[in-house]
Amino acid sequence: MRKKIVAGNWKMNTTVPEGKELASALVSKFAGVPEDVTLVIAPPFTHLDSVGEIIKDSKICLSSQNCADQEKGAYTGEVSAAMLKSVGCEYVILGHSERREYYGETSAKLVEKTKLAFANGMKVIFCCGENLEDREAGKHFDVVGKEIKDVLFQFTAADMANVVVAYEPIWAIGTGKTASSAQAEEIHAFIRKTLADQFGKEVAEDMTILYGGSCKPANAKELFAQPDIDGGLIGGAALKADDFIAIAQSY
Ligand code: PGA
Repeated sequence: MRKKIVAGNWKMNTTVPEGKELASALVSKFAGVPEDVTLVIAPPFTHLDSVGEIIKDSKICLSSQNCADQEKGAYTGEVSAAMLKSVGCEYVILGHSERREYYGETSAKLVEKTKLAFANGMKVIFCCGENLEDREAGKHFDVVGKEIKDVLFQFTAADMANVVVAYEPIWAIGTGKTASSAQAEEIHAFIRKTLADQFGKEVAEDMTILYGGSCKPANAKELFAQPDIDGGLIGGAALKADDFIAIAQSY
């Protein structure tokens, strides 16, 4: 059975006190979230320890937004997968388009990061998605297919139990422009087929594929109703407890 997940990517927002307040609000409002929906939050590195404490007795899981591509040592400013595991991270978001675009994250680096996340017992939320130019040129299937092949195809079918794919069209991130549910379903089905061709149908059927990009309470229900959309990776709307919970309740 495929897991339904609603994950909140806080990006570089909130101070530690603000983050703790948001996490406490999520814990207190959690009650209406359906049993079979897993909630994940990805605060900044500095918040993980204290936010982790707040959510530790709840059903909300902790994620980081990135991890280092090296195990440990002289890599100033980096945070390793082992460190993240030690503060209770179950998930790590890898390959977000903002990291690819602004921080030169390549597929080769993502392979190393994914290996380290797995070695430390964490699950990977692997992001992929095309930009507006590629979408308009009709290249979105090629772009997304390549991102998946270059990273996920370097791993085994068994590893896929620890991978969540997040499809996030870059043109829909933070822009208020959502992919229509039909556009999103079309590419989610393509992603599942790509995974099935490599890892087998059974493995692909069990994998969670999230939609991300201007997902909010008003459009979540329609998106999540699509057969190959198993939840969302939420940016802006994850910063408001009521909105994030409302999205999770959209199932
Ligand atoms: P958004 O961001 O919901 O603010 O569009 C989504 C994301 O980048 O994960």
